[in-house]
Amino acid sequence: MPERRLLFKNLDEPGLRTLDVYKRRGGYRALERAIRELEPDQIIAEIEESGLRGRGGAGFSMGKKGSFLPRGDMPKYLCCNADESEPGTFKDRELMFKNPHGLIEGIVIAAIAVGAQHAFIFIRGEYWDVADVLDAAVREAYDAGLVGERILGSNHSVQLVVHRGAGAYICGEETALLDSLEGKRGNPRLKPPFPAVQGLYGGPTLINNVETLMNVPHIIRHGAEWYKRLGTEQSTGTKVVSVSGHVQRPGNYEIELGIPAREIIFGLAGGPPPGRRVKVWFPGGSSAPVLTEEELDLPYSFESMAEAGSMLGSGAIIVGDDTVSVPELALRTARFYHHESCGKCSPCREGTNWTVKMLERVVRGEATPMDLDIIASVQENIIGNCLCVLGDAMAMPVGSMVRKFRHEFEEVIERARAAHGGPLDAAPDDVPPVPLGVHA
Ligand SMILES: Cc1cc2nc3c(=O)[nH]c(=O)nc-3n(C[C@H](O)[C@H](O)[C@H](O)COP(=O)(O)O)c2cc1C
Repeated sequence: MPERRLLFKNLDEPGLRTLDVYKRRGGYRALERAIRELEPDQIIAEIEESGLRGRGGAGFSMGKKGSFLPRGDMPKYLCCNADESEPGTFKDRELMFKNPHGLIEGIVIAAIAVGAQHAFIFIRGEYWDVADVLDAAVREAYDAGLVGERILGSNHSVQLVVHRGAGAYICGEETALLDSLEGKRGNPRLKPPFPAVQGLYGGPTLINNVETLMNVPHIIRHGAEWYKRLGTEQSTGTKVVSVSGHVQRPGNYEIELGIPAREIIFGLAGGPPPGRRVKVWFPGGSSAPVLTEEELDLPYSFESMAEAGSMLGSGAIIVGDDTVSVPELALRTARFYHHESCGKCSPCREGTNWTVKMLERVVRGEATPMDLDIIASVQENIIGNCLCVLGDAMAMPVGSMVRKFRHEFEEVIERARAAHGGPLDAAPDDVPPVPLGVHA
């Protein structure tokens, strides 16, 4: 089986969420090493050397990001992004719920590395049960001197707070997360300045995803050289992949980066139901441009997904089999981002709205082929022109669906044309919608 368990090792052991069992499994030894044997700069250097890339979406080097924070005594912060709202992504939930101390240890080491004395876990509001687990673990860690003042008798102090979000997808965007944490409406900020320079309360802030931070204890304990042996040159380590949609065994699987996507979708998740084939798949959450059956043998890595015109993103694979109508999938995707757009910038606010309206016309059988060109051009005008990448998160997958499955959109339009018996422009308003059926 192509599973490679690092973060998932011992994950199902009863009691792992208690300090006692976590320590028995080697927990907090990396923190001890970080405090006793390494200077903060050496911790950053070790993380950078390991090649660890962010697991929350953008895949940026964690070590590099850490090195961007200025040195000095000014107040600095660390925020763990546990908002996990990207459709199809459910890995952080399992990691935190079953191994909260693994996250706490990663946070404390990273906070010491960048000199942050205050750390926050910003957790998605709907994860109330996970937040309870984290709260209990944080209390235990405080009581054991692993968090708080003078950690393990050293000069390092880190205060850690679990903060519950209120259910907005946009609050997963790092600067909206900061505004929300400061008690404001969660809207993205203009970048630069980047949070590493000016983040929470205007202070330098390191923001990392749950899974990214949970890799840190493994790197510090075993060393960058050991870690780098896992994965590919540009995508080191393992990845927890959430597989959902038309597969027989949906769930989270930890794999070594670089194995063929087919091994994940078929080998681990069981592939689509018998008699069905994969038609379309998102390799990195619903904001990633879609891939097709022909692309199933690509290595699952940051670089390979980018070369294929998509992205590894949050590592959530959503599979659609040959019963899926791609125009309907495009509409459903667009509706999510339209609903979640904060409305602060017009390309996103208006672009997501127009896209939904135009795709509704397609699905209702009221569009013309020219509308497909307009939909495609709206997506191109959104990409790169928004305050944050929420707009792009809709435009990239929708644009890719129109590009790769244009024949299917045209088929819907043609069928509507035939059913209406004339050009659609002349069709009366009360023409019933055309059933989409199965596109095998
Ligand atoms: C609209 C939007 C939503 C996001 N949601 C999340 C999220 O839920 N969790 C997450 O870790 N990153 C999310 N991100 C990415 C963060 O902005 C940021 O890149 C990430 O937390 C950095 O951590 P990493 O380098 O460890 O990946 C989102 C980005 C955007 C634009």
